[in-house]
Amino acid sequence: MHHLQCVLHAQRYLGWGPLASVSWLLLRTCRAHSTFSTTTCPSPEGLQEDGVRKDFSSRLATGPTFQHFLRSASVPQEKLSSPDAVDPPPYLTVDELLGRQRKVYLETYGCQMNVNDTEIAWSILQKSGYLRTRNLQEADVILLVTCSIREKAEQTIWNRLHQLKALKKKRLRSRVPLKIGILGCMAERLKEEILNREKIVDVLAGPDAYRDLPRLLAVAESGQQAANVLLSLDETYADVMPVQTSPSAPSAFVSIMRGCDNMCSYCIVPFTRGRERSRPVASILEEVRKLSEQGLKEVTLLGQNVNSFRDTSEVQFNNAVSTNLSRGFSTNYKTKQGGLRFSHLLDQVSRIDPEMRIRFTSPHPKDFPDEVLQLIHERDNICKQIHLPAQSGSSRVLEAMRRGYSREAYVELIHHIRESIPGVSLSSDFIAGFCGETEEDHLQTVSLLREVQYNMGFLFAYSMRQTRAYHRLKDDVPEEVKLRRLKELITVFREEATKANNTSVGCTQLVLVEGLSKRSATDLYGRNDGNLKVIFPDVEMEDVTNSGLRVRAQPGDYVLVKITSASSQTLRGHLLCRTTLKDSSAHCSVE
Ligand code: 5AD
Ligand code: SF4
Repeated sequence: MHHLQCVLHAQRYLGWGPLASVSWLLLRTCRAHSTFSTTTCPSPEGLQEDGVRKDFSSRLATGPTFQHFLRSASVPQEKLSSPDAVDPPPYLTVDELLGRQRKVYLETYGCQMNVNDTEIAWSILQKSGYLRTRNLQEADVILLVTCSIREKAEQTIWNRLHQLKALKKKRLRSRVPLKIGILGCMAERLKEEILNREKIVDVLAGPDAYRDLPRLLAVAESGQQAANVLLSLDETYADVMPVQTSPSAPSAFVSIMRGCDNMCSYCIVPFTRGRERSRPVASILEEVRKLSEQGLKEVTLLGQNVNSFRDTSEVQFNNAVSTNLSRGFSTNYKTKQGGLRFSHLLDQVSRIDPEMRIRFTSPHPKDFPDEVLQLIHERDNICKQIHLPAQSGSSRVLEAMRRGYSREAYVELIHHIRESIPGVSLSSDFIAGFCGETEEDHLQTVSLLREVQYNMGFLFAYSMRQTRAYHRLKDDVPEEVKLRRLKELITVFREEATKANNTSVGCTQLVLVEGLSKRSATDLYGRNDGNLKVIFPDVEMEDVTNSGLRVRAQPGDYVLVKITSASSQTLRGHLLCRTTLKDSSAHCSVE
């Protein structure tokens, strides 16, 4: 029998019914008393470490007590973020908790949250003495930050693990054994199943368990498989300053909330990322201030339901102020009260640096009260760009999806947003072929795409996950019908986006330069206020911020570009001058 140690963790953890109710933290021993293959077992170098492993196993046998976990749960968060400052668990020494210059290769899949989580995980490992490598061959530890949103996302990881298996097998005996970890949503969703199916996986860490990575890797070092897939009610990594993945980029992501309470019937996110919780405003402002001091020009506030933000960290924030939802929208959960809301945060963040653009993603349409729309309209540095995931244009399907609004309420919100923020750029997500979707429902979605004329869109074929829809509805639209409907939606979206983007031709727009265009060495690219890519030739221009000097554009510069052509995804134009965000809004109208 393999050795399986399940320990109750005294962290506040949660369950969403059967899927997440077995939140566990486990340590598994490989080899002698294991059903596991020997692929994770030691090379000659590992054999040298056998003494260490025996010692480890005997320490593990005496094991941590429940009291130990109670104790570690009360360690303040700042202390935990720096593992070298924490007392090691009884079965590890301080030295074993350290990275000892092992090189970590991180690979990110899925959404922007995962990009940010990768930086959080890296920040924690860096503090623990690990080094980062961008070269797979050099890696001692490979960590995949994974996504579960659609079947295909998970299939990509299984394929990748297959490739990594060969790499692990080929590993030279003179080097330390290669360790492989699965982080994020897939670790959370499949838990132990991953360890059973792919014996090459050494470490599993769910989205709320990244602080535990040094310990999990230390356990893996000794030939054990280790997992922590506990979900938390309060983990926001507020004190972990993410290390920016590409230090030269002019923009950064700042995570402001995690999790989701909506329980749309198709969506796996509440199961993989847990309950909704917000990061304290003060820590967000501190991070944005630091980024501004570093010269960053754009911050995107991140969260699964970014505009449902609610900081309840201080009692004085919680006087019972009722929550304003968008008109005609409802929630699947009991109305929440109090806390500092998104409009407060947006106001504070946008005041930090008038030269810093503020964006946010991904919002839920239910949380756009007038205060938020007014702020976006008023502040020059809050981008006039709103993502408004509709998912379907049919009220019947929206009900089956449990979205909490009808087509009519959604369209009314679009009109209200367009009146409140003239020139706003809109984008959306749609799912083709959800359970029970008829041809008539599909045509309703087509007509919504025509009616709204989005600037950007993200369209997907429905992929059955183990969610409410899996248990209660039938995935009855045949695959080929889903794909045909998806194709039709894409075609209509492109036609409409091309029309919408064509209205920019002839206008002068403010563009934040990002770098050299991937297609041509003589072109640069950047993004306009609506987050659309703008491509323009890299030529000398006047710098109006520096008495008309002739300069070339650099990443992080604001430039004015005259738009000359548009497609469904990009704009092209020519450079007029280098400017500032403030000046551009004072002197030119950015249509
Ligand atoms: N199948 C297809 N698309 C999905 N999305 C979420 N769950 C599913 C699913 N099961 C889409 C939604 C969401 C976006 C992030 O992914 O459109 O807004
Ligand atoms: Fe994928 Fe959703 Fe997890 Fe992001 S939150 S990684 S989209 S499953």
